[in-house]
Formats: sequence, structure tokens, C-alpha cells
Amino acid sequence: MKKILLAIFTLIFFCMTAVAVNAAESDNDLTIRLKIDSPLMLVNNEEKSIDENGTSPVIVNSRTLLPVRAIVEEIGGSVEWNSDTKTVGLQSGDNNIQLEIDSATAYLNNEPYTFDTPPAIIGGRTMLPIRFIAESFGLEVSWNGEEQIVTIVKKSDVQTETVTFAETATEITTAEETSESDNNILVAYFSATNNTKGVAEKIAEAAEADIYAITPAIPYTAEDLDYNTECRANKEQNDDGARPEISGTVENMEDYDTVFIGYPIWWGQAPKIMYTFMESYDFNGKTIIPFCTSGSSPIGSSAENMHSLAAGADWLEGQRFGGGASADDVSGWVNSLGLK
Ligand SMILES: Cc1cc2nc3c(=O)[nH]c(=O)nc-3n(C[C@H](O)[C@H](O)[C@H](O)COP(=O)(O)O)c2cc1C
Repeated sequence: MKKILLAIFTLIFFCMTAVAVNAAESDNDLTIRLKIDSPLMLVNNEEKSIDENGTSPVIVNSRTLLPVRAIVEEIGGSVEWNSDTKTVGLQSGDNNIQLEIDSATAYLNNEPYTFDTPPAIIGGRTMLPIRFIAESFGLEVSWNGEEQIVTIVKKSDVQTETVTFAETATEITTAEETSESDNNILVAYFSATNNTKGVAEKIAEAAEADIYAITPAIPYTAEDLDYNTECRANKEQNDDGARPEISGTVENMEDYDTVFIGYPIWWGQAPKIMYTFMESYDFNGKTIIPFCTSGSSPIGSSAENMHSLAAGADWLEGQRFGGGASADDVSGWVNSLGLK
């Protein structure tokens, strides 16, 4: 039922946007629209599933990552995945892109280009920063932050030409930003199984804040999280000096006065990757608001034990949520903080 409602909701959103945008597009253009967290896409206003796995676009580190295969194949290109080297090759017309999972360097027609959100495998699908790919392939990309919809247009009258890194780089770096709000609030969270992610997104919505996913350089597998065994998570929690590496950074941390930090409770405490995060920035003068999700444990001493890692910060009392906390529960708490 939830899925059906989501599909109807998505379709209504898409229809509204399609009417608004269509005026600028010619009948022969190919238009693909995708919505964050929706497994459906509209190709020339015809609804399709992105794939049989229910893959949806996501926002990671304020960058939109899209399931690339569906899009590249829609525009008549091809995708080659090499599971041994974890590399993806994309071909459209004369242009070729080579990417490596979790590497921030891509090669466009053999020219290297560095971006801040590396390709990732999410739910078994390769997710790529779409603006880089689309613009490299001569497609137009627009982002509607309010509706969270990405529109990709392949113009019928544009000849495919070989593009180079130099021609596209400036546009990519400036245009790749998504809907950053005017607020000076950031929600930074780590989530191994998406419970904290769900709460973090609701907080960001209620507080009109930017959101940043603390992404481990080495992702946690199900085995790593199997706390009934000598798993990686347990080992890290038992090691005071463990500081798991983070992939990516918050480049504009100085812009934020208030930072929510969110994490799952692991053995009563914050995962050690949160310690890595806290030690990576200067929080002096900022307000920090901790939140967590857990099976049942309270937030307890988990936030207090990080106070020493953020000298000069003003720590507010933290809040624990269950994994499936409702938007009302979350916004009720956010509103009680009186941030706006
Ligand atoms: C290694 C490990 C230790 C955990 N320890 C606790 C705990 O002490 N108390 C608790 O209530 N839940 C515990 N949990 C459950 C998580 O806190 C809970 O599932 C959380 O919502 C997961 O958030 P995430 O999906 O954002 O990773 C633990 C989970 C893992 C993987």
C-alpha cells in the first residue's frame, strides 16, 4: 500500500513538473525525470521503473547520485561494469567516461577529473554523480530543489561532439550544487543500515538544513555489523584508538553555526567513525545537537563522551529515536529547539 501511495504521489509530482518544464523542450528532445527516493522515472512523460530492484536516486554529501545504467541506456549509450577492478565504463557517441567505485577521479576521454562525491554502490547498483556524466555526454541537467526532481534533456538538434575535461570542468564544479538552503544549519550523520539516515532527512527537512552523510571509506558489510560475532564494528567499539576513515569532507563547515550530529548506538556509544568526524573539524563556537537511533538503548553517555573532541562547542542535550520515527515525532523535537 505504501508503495502504491508513493507511486501515485511521485506521479502527481512528476506531472506537475512536466507541465512546467515542457514549454522549453522540443517534441523531439528526449527528457528523463527522476525524483530523489523514487524508484520511478519519466521518459518523455512515460512512467518507467528505474530497474527491477526498486533503485532510487539519493543525495549524498549534497550531491545527487543516480543509477547510471538506466539513464545511459535511455540515451542510447552503453555501460560496462568490471567487477574485478570495480570500474565502470560509459560510452555515448564518441565520449567515454571511466570511473572507479569509491575513487574521486574519473577519466573523460582519458583526461582525469576529480570530484568530491565518488561513485558508490548502493543497494547493489552503481550510483554516480549525474551532472558530471550528463554534461560530459552533452545532456542538459536541471535540478528542482523544492520538488527534488532532476531533469535530463538530450536535445534532438545537438550533434554529439567529443568534449574534453577543460571545456566542461568550470560548469560542472559550479553547477553541481544542489538545493543548499540559506540556513546555517547542517545535519551530519552516519548510518550503517539507513535508520539514522531516515531520521536525519526528517530533521533536515524540519530545520531547513543542509545534510551530509558521513560515508566510511570502507563501507560496512552485513558481516562487519554482525554484533554477535567478533565483527569489525565490535572490534572498533572496543578499541579506544579506532578512527575509521571517512570518504569526502564538509568543505564549507565554517558556514554552519549549528550542527546536528546523528549516529546509531553501537554498544551504548557512538560508532568510532563519529570520533573521526568530530576530530576532523573545528567546532569552536558552534552549537552541536546530537541525535541517535537504536534498538532500545537511550542516548546515554554516547554524546557526552564526544564533548572533549569538540573544544569550545556548545552541546545541547541529545535525542534518541527509534529507527522508524515519524516525521511528526522528529519535527516536534526540532521545533522544540527553537532554531528558526
Ligand atoms: C555493532 C552494533 C551494536 C549495536 N548496539 C546497540 C545497543 O547497544 N543498543 C541498542 O539499542 N541498539 C544497538 N544496535 C542497534 C542499532 O543501534 C540500531 O539498529 C540503529 O537504529 C541502526 O542505525 P543505522 O541504520 O542508522 O545504522 C547495535 C547495532 C550494531 C550494528
